[in-house]
Amino acid sequence: MLRLDKYIADTGLYSRKDVKAAAKKGLITVNGKTVRDVSERIDENTAVVTYCGEKVNWRRYVYVMLNKPAGYISSTEESDRTVMKLLPQEYTKMECFPCGRLDIDTVGLLLITNDGPLAHELLSPRHHAEKTYFYRCDPAIGEREAEALCAGVDIGGYVTKTSKVELVDETSGYITLTEGKFHQIKRMFEAVGSSITYLRRVEFGGISLDESLKEGEWRELTESEIETLRSAGVKE
Ligand code: URA
Repeated sequence: MLRLDKYIADTGLYSRKDVKAAAKKGLITVNGKTVRDVSERIDENTAVVTYCGEKVNWRRYVYVMLNKPAGYISSTEESDRTVMKLLPQEYTKMECFPCGRLDIDTVGLLLITNDGPLAHELLSPRHHAEKTYFYRCDPAIGEREAEALCAGVDIGGYVTKTSKVELVDETSGYITLTEGKFHQIKRMFEAVGSSITYLRRVEFGGISLDESLKEGEWRELTESEIETLRSAGVKE
């Protein structure tokens, strides 16, 4: 059960103050009846609520796939260059945040959600959610370096866990990690004498970047993508 003002404010579209004012004017209905007391508790799973004649679509959690462009930081801090600025403000009001971080110059799949428990599971080292990146590097690497990357390399006091590397050619390919240390891929390539020149995340927790999204574009996840993420989150 939720308070009526919380239920409506959870959508991120209206503040509790707006809700109180609208209720006073008789503009809110619950299951067909006008409700003026915003502290009334309603069943969030079954209630049909309207606000100024519009049905309110309450959801406990939202999940957004963003194709992150370069130049944006993966944080919710107050800055014009955070990834949250690429989404309508209601997502910030719904307390969404980026699930993990991509470097400022890394592009591609970033999950933004307000599902704290799932984000925690996906990011927890125990759960090994896989992250796949397309990379370009310079100078070229060969099979020997790819094998070293797969086996684990010392990135400065830490030896990376095993990863998967699929060479497309000598200067590009895919790398899949199950961990996320600071600048991990860049440091891994440095450890084998190369340097990353381009990095795009193409998969996260079993979901793939929607290639129809241009950089800077986003969409909400489908039900089946959310299910996929949930099963990646519970994997031990
Ligand atoms: N590894 C990096 O070096 N950068 C990223 O953004 C992600 C993984």
